[in-house]
Amino acid sequence: MQNTNVIHFQLITSLIITCLVFGFCTALKEGETCASNDNCNSGLHCETCLANGNLRPRCTRIQSVNPTSKVKGLPYNRYSWLTTHNSFARLGQRSATGSLILAPSNQQDSITDQLNNGVRGLMLDMYDFLNDIWLCHSFGGQCFNYTAFQPAVNVLTEVQAFLDTNPSEIVTIIIEDYVTSPRGLTKVFDAAGLRKFWFPVSRMPKNGGNWPTVDDMVQKNQRLVVFTSKSAKEASEDGNGGMIPGSCPNRGRSVAMNATSRSLVLFNYFPDGADVIQACKDNSAPLFSMMNTCYDAAGHRWPNFIAVDFYRRSDGGGSSEATDVANGHMVCGCENIALCKANMTFGVCKVPEADRAPAPRSIAHDCSFTYLESRPVLLQWLLCMILVPILLHL
Ligand SMILES: *[C@@H]1O[C@H](CO)[C@@H](O)[C@H](O)[C@H]1NC(C)=O
Ligand SMILES: *[C@@H]1O[C@H](CO)[C@@H](O)[C@H](O)[C@H]1NC(C)=O
Ligand SMILES: *[C@@H]1O[C@H](CO)[C@@H](O)[C@H](O)[C@H]1NC(C)=O
Repeated sequence: MQNTNVIHFQLITSLIITCLVFGFCTALKEGETCASNDNCNSGLHCETCLANGNLRPRCTRIQSVNPTSKVKGLPYNRYSWLTTHNSFARLGQRSATGSLILAPSNQQDSITDQLNNGVRGLMLDMYDFLNDIWLCHSFGGQCFNYTAFQPAVNVLTEVQAFLDTNPSEIVTIIIEDYVTSPRGLTKVFDAAGLRKFWFPVSRMPKNGGNWPTVDDMVQKNQRLVVFTSKSAKEASEDGNGGMIPGSCPNRGRSVAMNATSRSLVLFNYFPDGADVIQACKDNSAPLFSMMNTCYDAAGHRWPNFIAVDFYRRSDGGGSSEATDVANGHMVCGCENIALCKANMTFGVCKVPEADRAPAPRSIAHDCSFTYLESRPVLLQWLLCMILVPILLHL
């Protein structure tokens, strides 16, 4: 009897010591050292960011707060939506043609996993290919077996399943549109069963006004918003669209842009060549800094869409936290959506003492354009643009 007690005691003691030393028993918070994803709290995973010199694996955020779960009832344009660039171009995926993919990949997980982690914007490159519409990278505007990921209908069907099982969620698709076949896009959206969720063009605001509220969109089941890039491309080509690689449009230009084109702000933050190693660095401090730069350049507007490569990668909070920060500012006037409460007064933020940051992230001043110009390598990457709501006419 005595013996068993001693053994029990020893067992429990060693368990406690193991826990304290390795942190295996309690779920770990963001930034804490981990050994595997299971160690981390929900919404986090365990990774290192070698590009930032972090050899130690740490719990890193991969889920954003669903802003409409904190504060309902605001117009669609009063929220920020985490967006994946080339959402379909998954690392290690084989082409559905059977070929190996010899083109860059931009993300690490499936569309379904992205949506379940809080991604609400998908950027998809669509091409005519093999008598169908495919998600593809291209060389010279052409899709090849070795750059074609899969038929668009597959991914759109995942979106359809997500909208079906999550009746209060809204998803936005931004198409980089190379489709020329007649009614090609219409057919593929129909084939995926997405027509019933379609947000109609006629309900998009004119003159930069507010969009319908998210509640209204949910109630009417108009929960899929689709843009194509075609008009934005034209706008940039005549030099008037505010889509200037390397810098956010300057203030003068923003002011010159007319109201219609200012309904929504898209913040693209990804390099020309996707880079899985660098992505954790890009999606950390520089992302926050550029978001602040763009806030200034876009005439004091937070981005409605924060679009990144490898959204899961960062050295801490990453693109998920950037979205939480943008939502905090847009939804309730606080530093983070976590501080927003239903029916609170805008800007009256109760920050828990313990969480009060000694140096709040300041709006970038000295790092903006000068910083960019002094770092030419960044020049290709960043563009803030005002999204032009051009729509599929179904
Ligand atoms: C591309 O893939 C399709 C479908 O698998 C196949 O029929 C076709 O022969 C392939 N083309 C080339 C050039 O390999
Ligand atoms: C917006 O600008 C474009 C191009 O300058 C112009 O054609 C259009 O009429 C303008 N729209 C409004 C609402 O001012
Ligand atoms: C917020 O206000 C609305 C309308 O006045 C009310 O129906 C709702 O219950 C309030 N929510 C909370 C959490 O107080």
